[in-house]
Amino acid sequence: MATVYLNGQFLPIEEAHIPVLDRGFILGDGVYEVIPVYDRRPFRLHHHLDRLQHSMDGIRLANPHGADEWETLIGRIVAEAEWEDQGIYLQVTRGPAPRDQAFPKTVRPTVFVMASALSGPSAAVIRDGAAAITAEDNRWLRCDLKTISLLANVLLRQLSADAGCAETILIRDGWLTEGSASSVFVVRDGTVLAPPKSHLMLPGITYDVVLGLLAAEGLAHAVRPISADELYSADEIWITSSTKEITPVTRLDGRMVGNGQPGPMFEHMHNAYQAFKHQVMRGRNV
Ligand code: PDD
Repeated sequence: MATVYLNGQFLPIEEAHIPVLDRGFILGDGVYEVIPVYDRRPFRLHHHLDRLQHSMDGIRLANPHGADEWETLIGRIVAEAEWEDQGIYLQVTRGPAPRDQAFPKTVRPTVFVMASALSGPSAAVIRDGAAAITAEDNRWLRCDLKTISLLANVLLRQLSADAGCAETILIRDGWLTEGSASSVFVVRDGTVLAPPKSHLMLPGITYDVVLGLLAAEGLAHAVRPISADELYSADEIWITSSTKEITPVTRLDGRMVGNGQPGPMFEHMHNAYQAFKHQVMRGRNV
């Protein structure tokens, strides 16, 4: 039975319960993080904790834990889980209160942490790529906050699930924003392009890792707005996230991306990412 953390206690998941009036359940009033763990070492933990703080500030909820406390309790969940590679899911809600949209006077946030197995993209996806569709980005205007109010993402993602595809890539007013649960990179004429961070997309931790690796590898890249037309006529498309790492997209809206195979820039960056991960496992870089 997997051990989870709930409000100060480590307990089997079957015994972890929250009151039905929790504002996370009633109003979707909370934030979350997903942190990859390789060989039991959390990857970019402090970047994730900084983004958690940004999300908490954005919803005006005081962080119940300092970074050291988070590190300790995440460390115990990681140690007790059965897998070497894990995805840590962490959620903080504004806690239980009589149902009212306005904040309760006294808040006792609900804090939940659990681990699951992390497998990364399959060998088949690395070899052949994944399929995606596009859709109009109809989410709210604070997509930079990692909130648990994910209904728009859920409905957008289901469009691609219905089409048998791995991701829905979002376009707002003719410009690429991100995927329903990933950041998006585009390769055109040997240059890797990434949309600039704004309130319209989540500041991806993997996005930052990839930009850092592009610079370290000396590959041409630019952070600038990417039009829908540039996306549709891209040589390569990648989606990135803590769980997908770098995943090549080789079919978009039923058409081939480039020649329909993962491209050379992807191959280069996939290898660079794996090498970086192995450094992390050896404790050289977190
Ligand atoms: N999602 N954009 C959105 C909307 C996301 O939900 C995610 C990640 C990302 C990539 O962020 P990162 O590289 O920090 O994982 C971008 C996580 C994995 C999830 O919701 O499961």
